[in-house]
Amino acid sequence: MKQQLEAIREKAENKLKELADTQELEQLRVEILGKKGELTSILKQMGKLSAEERPVIGQLANEIRSYIESKIDEKKSELEQAQLLKRLEDEKIDVTLPGKEFSLGNRHPLETVIDEIKEIFVGMGFEIVEGPEVESDYYNFEALNIPKDHPARDTQDTFYITDNILLRTQTSPVQVRVMEKQKPPIRILSPGRVYRSDALDATHSPLFHQIEGLVVDKGITFADLKGTLETFVKRLYGEDSVVRFRPHHFPFTEPSAEVDVQCFGCHGKGCRLCKNEGWIEILGCGMVHPKVLENCGIDPEEYSGFALGLGLERVAMRRYGVDDIRLFYENDVRFLKQFK
Ligand code: FA5
Ligand code: MG
Repeated sequence: MKQQLEAIREKAENKLKELADTQELEQLRVEILGKKGELTSILKQMGKLSAEERPVIGQLANEIRSYIESKIDEKKSELEQAQLLKRLEDEKIDVTLPGKEFSLGNRHPLETVIDEIKEIFVGMGFEIVEGPEVESDYYNFEALNIPKDHPARDTQDTFYITDNILLRTQTSPVQVRVMEKQKPPIRILSPGRVYRSDALDATHSPLFHQIEGLVVDKGITFADLKGTLETFVKRLYGEDSVVRFRPHHFPFTEPSAEVDVQCFGCHGKGCRLCKNEGWIEILGCGMVHPKVLENCGIDPEEYSGFALGLGLERVAMRRYGVDDIRLFYENDVRFLKQFK
């Protein structure tokens, strides 16, 4: 029995040397010291021994048990230490490596110009409102004094969804929506997308942005319109900018005008950008037609107003010296990065 015990000790020692991980170590512990382990099964046979042998073997067995236990503990902390070191090595971070560079995006130039224009008008007491891009024929045309078959419809080539539903060709329907709900005094500004089946060229796009302005109150005159627009243009482009008012016709304003800025490509001489005209049209405007006021339940005898509709891309082109409208939509970062 003594020999058996010594054999167990030897076996344990040899195995401990070969062990590679804590799992194998636990296996060994169960195999030898566990309830059904080799050492335990020897101890169970102690009853067969004589009274003199029993304490001797008992002592030896205890010795060997605690010897093996301490060896296993030793090996265990050794293995754990090695595992920890390996993990630290694997997870090591080289703080001297150069970091990844994040390139921050920036605002689109059209957004920046919308904000600038909003600020100028809000400074003059205007309120910002929004309207739907999918409109009814009534708001986009009919209520604005453009009946079916009116030739003015030809100048705004329309994307129809059904006979009566369309993509708005202008922001002017917002005028009607506001006047239907709100009684004068009214002073609103409404930026947004509009759609026309225009061919794409340096100054035209089938999707572009307009900003609508509307003022309705007692005693509003064309002088108020001119003063407002002059203030606006000078704040946006600087005191030395050259603008002109040109008589025009819109069915929803009377009298009407268009405002041009001198071409920034050629300073009035004529070039590709202004189609050799020397001027670039940026907005349409006029005194709100009495019929439109009436359509919205406002008495034209008591109130008058002016309205303006500005082509945002043209304004932004002039503002930043961009010579092709298509650049705004191509999302080329080399172009967009210049507006940081
Ligand atoms: C109108 O749309 C009127 N609703 C403007 C208005 C409002 C007049 C209130 C009176 C009172 P017009 O079709 O001219 O007008 O367009 C207005 C501006 O939009 C033009 O001056 C131009 O700057 C811009 N614009 C027109 N078509 C395009 C296009 N295809 N691409 C880019 N800009 C355009
Ligand atoms: Mg026009």
